[in-house]
Amino acid sequence: MDPLAFIISLARDAGTLLRDRFDGPRTIEHKSPKDLVTDADRASEALIVAAIRANFPGAAILGEEGGVYAGSSGERFIVDPLDGTSNYAHHYPMYCVSIGYERDGVLEAGAIYAPVLDELFAAQRGAGATRNGAAIRVSSAERVADAMVCTGFVPGRFEERNIREWTAASRAAQAVRRDGSAALDLAAVAMGRFDAFWEWRLKPWDVAAGTLIVREAGGTVSAIDGEVFDIADGSILATNGRIHAELAAVINGA
Ligand code: IPD
Ligand code: CA
Ligand code: CA
Repeated sequence: MDPLAFIISLARDAGTLLRDRFDGPRTIEHKSPKDLVTDADRASEALIVAAIRANFPGAAILGEEGGVYAGSSGERFIVDPLDGTSNYAHHYPMYCVSIGYERDGVLEAGAIYAPVLDELFAAQRGAGATRNGAAIRVSSAERVADAMVCTGFVPGRFEERNIREWTAASRAAQAVRRDGSAALDLAAVAMGRFDAFWEWRLKPWDVAAGTLIVREAGGTVSAIDGEVFDIADGSILATNGRIHAELAAVINGA
């Protein structure tokens, strides 16, 4: 089975499960005081993991909610079954499913599905990025002063640094947002809604699909300090490319 077609279909199925439960009652547990997990996170991951194990039995899986399996085929699926759990818990509709597919350590395909928006973002390495099947590109903003940029804060690990960066970006950019789903924030950069996104200490499942989608849409992804982006490190600056150096200077100077 084609991995991209598989993860697109899987992200839609899991997203439909999330949307079907969105207005209903839910169970909320706390991994830490500000880091939530709901019954919907777990149900979505169970659906995704079962489908991967049935269709790609040799593949490794890295799922946020404990779906971790070793593999033998050199393939790995990196799964955030519900990105934007706090939004979901508060009935704020910016949430999604994010699935990345790696072969021999290289990201080959990614899919992000936002059920309330009914938007499916996808990319295959070397083949461009799409939204609901149509090609997408990053924005053409040339200056931070013209940019709408987005950031995020790791639940429960909010630091003074985040406040200084927020302040500096608010002064320099046209507008700053904190929308609560790193994967959707990256998809927004890929299609030019946001001109940039940055956050510290994200996890591989937050960014696997989104970084590929941004790059395939013509954007630039680095660590916040400008070094090579490392999915295991989690510091990320993703932009339209044109404002990358200028925004990096704003954030790193904060
Ligand atoms: C979180 C979201 C949020 C980001 C956090 C992530 P979760 O993921 O992506 O926007 O700021 O750092 O942990 O917990 O909703 O899957
Ligand atoms: Ca996440
Ligand atoms: Ca999650």
